Formats: sequence, C-alpha cells, structure tokens
Amino acid sequence: MEKILELKNLRTYYSTDAGTAKAVDGVGFSIAPNRTLGVVGESGSGKSVTALSIMRLIPTPPGYFAGGEIFWKGRDLLQLQEEEMRRVRGNEIAMIFQEPMSSLNPVFTCGRQIMEQILIHQPFSQTEAKDRTIELLRLVGIADPARRFSAWPHELSGGMRQRVMIAMALSCSPSLLIADEPTTALDVTVQAQILDLIARLQADTGMSVLLITHDFGVVAELCEEVLVMYASRVVEKGSVRDIFANPLHPYTRGLLKSIPRIGSKAERLHVIEGSVPSAIHIPPGCRFAPRCPMADGRCFNEQPELVSYEPGHEAACWKAG
Ligand SMILES: Nc1ncnc2c1ncn2[C@@H]1O[C@H](COP(=O)(O)OP(=O)(O)O)[C@@H](O)[C@H]1O
Ligand SMILES: [Mg+2]
Repeated sequence: MEKILELKNLRTYYSTDAGTAKAVDGVGFSIAPNRTLGVVGESGSGKSVTALSIMRLIPTPPGYFAGGEIFWKGRDLLQLQEEEMRRVRGNEIAMIFQEPMSSLNPVFTCGRQIMEQILIHQPFSQTEAKDRTIELLRLVGIADPARRFSAWPHELSGGMRQRVMIAMALSCSPSLLIADEPTTALDVTVQAQILDLIARLQADTGMSVLLITHDFGVVAELCEEVLVMYASRVVEKGSVRDIFANPLHPYTRGLLKSIPRIGSKAERLHVIEGSVPSAIHIPPGCRFAPRCPMADGRCFNEQPELVSYEPGHEAACWKAG
C-alpha cells in the first residue's frame, strides 16, 4: 500500500510537576493517498496530541518527542527545521479544530484571514487572492460568498465559522487534512452538514483526511479505515467494515455499544464503566485491564502488542482471536 503518512512508534511526552505524562506512547499507523482514516477513543486517549505531533505543534517545553518517526511523503517530519516544517504546514498538511472561534482572529474579517493565508503561501496578487478566497467560501457552501467575505467572525454561527476554517485549511490545497473533533461543538443537524462537506471535499480534491472523533457513528459515516486509541496507544485498527462486523478488542466493543441510535436523542445506550487512566499514571500490563470484563492475571502484568488477526485488521489484546 502506498503511504502518504506513516507514524512509527511515536512517543510524545510532557514534563509536569506530577511526573511525565505519556500522552502518546508508542503509536504507529499509516494513511494512503485519497483515504479517510478515523481515529476514535474517549477523551484523554491521546488523539489530539497525535494530531498536534504530526503538525509539530507540541509546545516544547513542556512537551517533547521521546521517540519514533513521522514519515511524510518519505521524510521524517521530526527531523525538519522549523522553517521547512512551516512550509509543510502551509502547503501540504492542514488542520481544523473543534472550536472554530478560538482559531479565528476576532479583529479581522473572515475573508481577510483566508486571503492572508493565501498571500503568505502563494505568489498571488491581492485581487487574485481575494477572488480565490471567494471561490473557497463558495466551495465550502457559504451562500453569497462575495458579501460574506466581509463578515466578522462573531457575526457567523458556529457551523459557518467551521466552514470558514475549512476554507482556510483548503486554501493551500493540502494533501492531508487533519480534522480534530470538527463537529463536537456544533448541534446535530449542523454536524451532519459539516461531515457531508468534508466527505465531498475529500472526494473532489483527492486529499487524505485524518478524522479524529470520540464518536464511532461519525467514523461509520465518513471513514474507510479506523484506529481505536486507548490510554495513549492504538488498541485496534482495521477497515470500518471489519471493525463493525468483528470488533476484536473489548474496548472497541464497548465503544460500539455506546453509539447513540437515531431517534434516541443521542442518549447513550451503554457506557464503559470507569475512565481513561491519567497519562501520568498508566497502569502496568494492558492499559484497559482495570476496566475490562475479560481481564485475567496476564492482562494486568504484560502489555499486549498489536497482532494481525485477519488481513489489515490488528488488535492489542491477550483475549482477542
Ligand atoms: N500540555 C499538556 N501537559 C500535560 N499533559 C497533557 C498535555 N496535553 C495533553 N496531555 C495529556 O495527554 C493525554 C492525551 O491528551 P489528548 O491527546 O488531548 O487526548 P484526546 O484528544 O484523545 O482527548 C491526556 O491524559 C492529557 O492529560
Ligand atoms: Mg482531543
């Protein structure tokens, strides 16, 4: 399989007064061109730190890379100078976040902010950059884009602001879009619209998408492949079809049972007892053992590694298979 991005044994740690937080602790996966990979896991699993590591947006200190590699089109991003990394961020990999308001500057109009991005990274005149901005606003489904160019961030709804952020991300024609819980802050109908938009843009542009979410339902809608993270590691990965049909890890099964059904008012049918351990106090053995209905002595003592159970379908569990 051709790989545009490949993480190998990535470790991203933070020094804190309470000890070392192993926020990402030996994560590996890859993504092919023109693919959508979902990353799921409860809050605190290491999803955002994984994404920020790829972008090299980990504040150092207190964060640091304790090991591993992030190959982007064959080059290890962890070895690049900041200058080169800025070019990658501006032209090849773009990221959108959960809360679009905090990523927009309140003192500039939305159009101006997109235009600035274009002017920094591309040899466009002011007029060309403005035209391109309006085209991007249209592309992300903003009606009357020439007028909306002059809108202030606070004048727009959350969904519209997320569309503006997506337009900004697309302004560099990235080969990879990282979307970190892009719809979590939005209400349900708007969520669906934004997800549809991302799916359409992915299909139209051929970019790859790394979609981070705590919601397996979102993965089912949008992704071909999925990575399940728990306590800073990958516990299962495979095609969405295989994982829905035959989840191998008890944690994955727990997450699948907690997908809200349509019409259930997003009420959780099932929750996994307990919570994700702190990245500072990771339990020995399998990290999920303290919450796992199947755990026995070995699970509490020996850490399972990812093992392949069917082509392209791996799990890290002593009880799988
Ligand atoms: N700046 C930081 N300092 C210390 N610990 C951090 C920092 N950022 C994240 N962490 C820890 O890393 C772990 C993973 O966080 P994160 O990647 O944000 O999880 P997720 O996105 O899956 O909810 C958490 O336990 C969190 O407390
Ligand atoms: Mg997060």
